[in-house]
Amino acid sequence: MSSFDPNLLPYYNPDVERRVCLITGGNSGLGYYTVLHLYLHGYAVYLAGRNQQLVSNAIESIKKEAILRRSKYTHSQLEKRFLGTMHRLQIDLLSLDSVELATKEFKQKEKYLHLLILNAGIMAVPYNKTNDGFEVQLQTCYISHFLLTDRLIDLMSSVESDVKVNESNDKTEKCDIVICNKFGTVIKDPRIIFVSSIGHWFAFFHYSLDYQYNYFPNIIFTLFRYGMAKCAGIQFTKTLAKRHPSILSVSVHPGIVLNTNLFSHLTHLPLIGTIFWVFFQIFAWFLGVTNEEGSFSSVRCSLSDDIDISNDNGKFYSTFGIEMTPSRIASNEKYSEESWAWTVQELNKRGHNINSL
Ligand SMILES: NC(=O)c1ccc[n+]([C@@H]2O[C@H](COP(=O)([O-])OP(=O)(O)OC[C@H]3O[C@@H](n4cnc5c(N)ncnc54)[C@H](OP(=O)(O)O)[C@@H]3O)[C@@H](O)[C@H]2O)c1
Repeated sequence: MSSFDPNLLPYYNPDVERRVCLITGGNSGLGYYTVLHLYLHGYAVYLAGRNQQLVSNAIESIKKEAILRRSKYTHSQLEKRFLGTMHRLQIDLLSLDSVELATKEFKQKEKYLHLLILNAGIMAVPYNKTNDGFEVQLQTCYISHFLLTDRLIDLMSSVESDVKVNESNDKTEKCDIVICNKFGTVIKDPRIIFVSSIGHWFAFFHYSLDYQYNYFPNIIFTLFRYGMAKCAGIQFTKTLAKRHPSILSVSVHPGIVLNTNLFSHLTHLPLIGTIFWVFFQIFAWFLGVTNEEGSFSSVRCSLSDDIDISNDNGKFYSTFGIEMTPSRIASNEKYSEESWAWTVQELNKRGHNINSL
């Protein structure tokens, strides 16, 4: 087991350096613990979720857990460890219009964003299409996150545009590059994290995102569709890292975490669901990690100074934030560009024009 300790990661004092995070799916599973740790480290965290009651419940529960954990800190630790804030944001990733509305609401509240965690996901559900015409897993895990990133990147993005001319106008002196977003706010160390999965290996051959793979038996092909969505997410962060080199973009596999809601469709199937449940419990006992441990790859990639833009942009991290090589398909630059182009084209076709990516 890893010796990862989130308490060793940097803490931010919101009165000195207010840092803002938006996370999708922060109300349950791994996302819940990711929010807890960011809150404990001083972040203003927006939990973007589709059910506001569940989000409110999570916020209340995280506050209680944070009080409990802080009660175990020493006095000197309390002086250096600052609590952040938590906020709700309405978003349903099954609807592109909802993504648009969420980003508008967010922009009314915040003028900058340091950390975007694309965490929400569904897995192994029956074949279905959203009203936007995408397969449900593809839209929830990948397409909506692509649109969300496009709409928010100008709040975190570093436009290397303004060159500060030094007072003396001495052209021999080196000019400083001012890194700021469109509101002129300097964004220090912006990061985008896509929560992918080891399941991206299910997409083991070169696929087209256009293909629906709606064949019998669903239990096999649904996993392939999930794999495609998670593979596309890794490709997305790799291409982001190339196109937006001043933002650290990485993807993670949290670990095998069998007590989240992710597997609920499988465990609720009539009869066979019980078999799945027993299998998952046995599997989790030997190979699984807890929900909190499952959050550590995201937590490390969010906060650690050891992961930096010059060496690590575009990388893939596994459980506890250990670097890992993704599949051949996920790593392929040509395929990644193809997925990117397809996504832009499909979103444009639906009137959700991609402007900033
Ligand atoms: N658990 C694992 O072993 C494992 C392994 C590899 C990767 N992952 C990835 O880790 C991420 C988190 O999964 P988890 O295990 O923590 O599962 P989880 O407990 O089911 O959490 C998923 C989160 O996504 C949200 N979500 C789902 N559909 C949404 C939608 N249409 N709009 C907005 N939010 C939506 C859920 O909100 P509701 O509560 O409203 O449903 C929930 O907050 C997923 O991307 C998953 O693919 C998990």
